[in-house]
Amino acid sequence: MNTLTIALSKGRLADQAIELFEESGLDCGFAKEKSRRLILTDERQDIRFIMAKPADVPTYVDYGAADIGVVGKDTLLEEGRKLYEVLNLGFGACRMCVCGAPELVGRIDTIPNKRVGTKYPNITRAYFEDRRHESVEIIKLNGSVELAPLIGLAELIVDIVESGRTLEENGLVVLEDIADISARLVINRVSLKMKAARINPLVNAIRGRLAERAAAELLLAKQRGEQA
Ligand code: PRP
Repeated sequence: MNTLTIALSKGRLADQAIELFEESGLDCGFAKEKSRRLILTDERQDIRFIMAKPADVPTYVDYGAADIGVVGKDTLLEEGRKLYEVLNLGFGACRMCVCGAPELVGRIDTIPNKRVGTKYPNITRAYFEDRRHESVEIIKLNGSVELAPLIGLAELIVDIVESGRTLEENGLVVLEDIADISARLVINRVSLKMKAARINPLVNAIRGRLAERAAAELLLAKQRGEQA
């Protein structure tokens, strides 16, 4: 079967991915209708999108159930699968950070027996063990992580910060940066060989479109600078 299967992360990343695929020359009309279908197929282009939970996208691509995936770098780091990461797609940009109360700025080391609440236990363990050379108690949470330091469950959290509003509105601050995050295009290694004739032109078209977007942003920034 030569059908190209692309796994998207359900939610905001999926919408932005479809927009980028469309701008890169794929006709994505078939994927734009709001529906609860999980497989969206276009027989004419011999292509289908599968709408997966973000944390499952690396799994679909790793097993070859999907040829290509669009997934956040946070999920890739957390899942730790050896996928071929070909493009930084730029959207979904945020930071993975250690956060906590403002009194802890510059004083993380003074906390004895640290407890860290997070949706990302693997990233958290790797950061504290490999970069800070200490072991901490990691408390796995599934969301609203900012609650943990407010309610005394943990002194610190590791989470993504996008606009910073959630931290601000809950009286917390960034204490340390771990990694820059954004959406990535990943490809199954076997698919890359077996379906090269389909995948390479698509990757090149997306790369070209990303370069155009970057050039347009640069021009805009320059024009704004000239006006100021
Ligand atoms: C994410 C993240 C932060 C928030 C950061 O949560 O876990 O809580 O967004 O965004 P901001 O800096 O723009 O405020 P999400 O909205 O995915 O919900 P969750 O807490 O249920 O995971």
